[in-house]
Amino acid sequence: MTAYQVLKASLVEKPATWLITGCAGFVGSNLLETLLRLNQRVVGLDNFATGHQHNLDEVQASVTPQQWANFVFIRGDIQQLDDCRRAMVWQANGQEQGVEYVLHQAALGSVPRSIEDPIRTNAHNIDGFLNMLVASRDAKVKRFVYAASSSTYGDHPGLPKLEDRIGKPLSPYAVTKLVNELYADVFGRVYGLQSVGLRYFNIVGKRQDPNGPYAAVIPKWIASLLKNEPVFINGDGETSRDFCYIDNAVQANLLAATTTNEEAVNQVYNVAVGDRTTLNQLFEMIVANLAAYGCPTTTKAQYRDFRAGDVRHSMADVGKARNLLGYEPTHRIGEGLKEAIGWYVASLGGAQPRG
Ligand SMILES: NC(=O)c1ccc[n+]([C@@H]2O[C@H](COP(=O)([O-])OP(=O)(O)OC[C@H]3O[C@@H](n4cnc5c(N)ncnc54)[C@H](O)[C@@H]3O)[C@@H](O)[C@H]2O)c1
Repeated sequence: MTAYQVLKASLVEKPATWLITGCAGFVGSNLLETLLRLNQRVVGLDNFATGHQHNLDEVQASVTPQQWANFVFIRGDIQQLDDCRRAMVWQANGQEQGVEYVLHQAALGSVPRSIEDPIRTNAHNIDGFLNMLVASRDAKVKRFVYAASSSTYGDHPGLPKLEDRIGKPLSPYAVTKLVNELYADVFGRVYGLQSVGLRYFNIVGKRQDPNGPYAAVIPKWIASLLKNEPVFINGDGETSRDFCYIDNAVQANLLAATTTNEEAVNQVYNVAVGDRTTLNQLFEMIVANLAAYGCPTTTKAQYRDFRAGDVRHSMADVGKARNLLGYEPTHRIGEGLKEAIGWYVASLGGAQPRG
């Protein structure tokens, strides 16, 4: 059995109390679904800045009524310290429990958004983060796990990316994620708060928003291809990424929150697979998967300028997470994409899988 399988069995045996910030977003709603399926008690905090009620509705539809009754939703903003404090207590079914594990996902993602509006990104991602640290410290949570980012590697050319070799940030977004790591580290040293930062590398999966000007590349391309709209590749298409299926990220969160390995705490980890896929390869894979779902397309990618703030190549070394957390990614990009595309075809409208 893997460390994750052992952990899931022990959580079912002895449910814990969790807070997920950003629970109506992509990563947060997938964390919520997993935890509720494991019969955990969950508080969710979200202000719907980029998240959606329909993500919560979909989670509700995927769990039992009893499991859903273990979920308490708080509509609130991490920019308000009072909202963060309110979310530190789970109250439902006539019971009250303090939150034990915080999975902090709420933030404004997207490099281009941060270039357009650095002040807003800073307010959510740094002020909001600091509020969450203070509230978590005061509530004496067992652990504070937070969404960090591979953008922290910035202009460091080294590949694969190793946690302790970072360069200078290339965007305001990357600055906010680096500041998060610095604050979490200082809260460990000064107040003894136990934290773990997870540097996500381009997460892929169901419920990643395909809409809006700041949509991530995979959902945006899938949605465009399904509508026969043009697909744009920024640059020559040889830009590469270590795409990470959502189940791997969920696994990393649960392991990080509960690890009893003292060495593993107050650390940051790469969360990816250790693969490198170019945008040209990604486009081919998406087209092939859509064809398998009965949505063939003749659309060709159109190339345009490189995008400001983008890192050219990214690939993780996941050895640290493997060694200290027992992280074992279950899906490579091919497998993850297949799962994700099935969901997009079903939810955005399209044909059923062939065969
Ligand atoms: N998706 C990725 O590939 C990726 C990569 C690296 C890092 N991350 C980080 O992972 C986290 C989750 O990303 P995601 O892809 O799920 O994004 P998302 O936009 O789908 O989810 C973020 C959620 O946070 C909520 N939120 C934002 N600001 C808030 C605030 N002030 N108060 C309360 N709620 C707020 C949004 O409404 C949304 O539901 C973010 O911190 C992001 O920076 C994501």
